Amino acid sequence: MDEKIKWAEVDSYIEEKLVAQDAILDAVLAASYGAGLPEIAVSPSQGKFLHLLARSMHARRILEIGTLGGYSAIWLARALPDDGRLVTLEVNRDYAEVAQRNFANAGVADKIELRLGRAANSLHDLQYENSAPFDLIFIDADKPSNPDYFAASLNLSHSGTVIIIDNIVRKGEILDTASANAAAQGARRVMDMIASEPRVSATALQTVGSKGHDGFVMAVMV
Ligand code: SAH
Ligand code: DHB
Ligand code: MG
Repeated sequence: MDEKIKWAEVDSYIEEKLVAQDAILDAVLAASYGAGLPEIAVSPSQGKFLHLLARSMHARRILEIGTLGGYSAIWLARALPDDGRLVTLEVNRDYAEVAQRNFANAGVADKIELRLGRAANSLHDLQYENSAPFDLIFIDADKPSNPDYFAASLNLSHSGTVIIIDNIVRKGEILDTASANAAAQGARRVMDMIASEPRVSATALQTVGSKGHDGFVMAVMV
């Protein structure tokens, strides 16, 4: 069997076994992709992974960089206690409108603050507002900016904050030192930053599944 087909089939099996069928989340994806948004949300098993991570660490404040149609945001928001809050950053007005509708339909709109604009600006604002630090940060926007997003995340964290960065492997592109691809360069640069950053302890995991061969970084503030 072709490896990619097998990965996708195993992902389907995992979803059937462990990720309960969820009409609301199905509708969120249908509304997003029906509106023409790119099909780049995290997979269901990854969404539930983020949810379980947030739940197990009792996260009360979550920051997401890169909303798209709100699929991962809804998984994360569902892990929050009643007074918990998720701030999610999105630059595309059309995507943000789809996401806001999805948040309302999923019943989590009161827990989510979507900030429209370039993430770099919103992160700057958050820092100067002196907002309380976040417990969990999910970085999943434009990949060339990952070094900037990671640096800003450090300033919005406390000891124990978990920072997850999506799409770090990209079919192994991370190894291509000569890559002209700005996303690959962003990935390598953020790995270098993390490697020499004494304020975090980090690892990265490769993933295969319905979204192909990729992976994410996990960095924990010491
Ligand atoms: N986290 C989402 C997927 C995000 S896709 C999920 O898993 O459901 C990446 C998103 O980052 C896109 O919606 C894109 O518009 C947004 N983005 C790209 N550049 C950005 C920037 N400079 N500032 C904020 N958002 C940006
Ligand atoms: C792609 C996938 C992602 O998860 C993402 O955040 C951005 C782009 C992609 O496959 O192109
Ligand atoms: Mg991603």
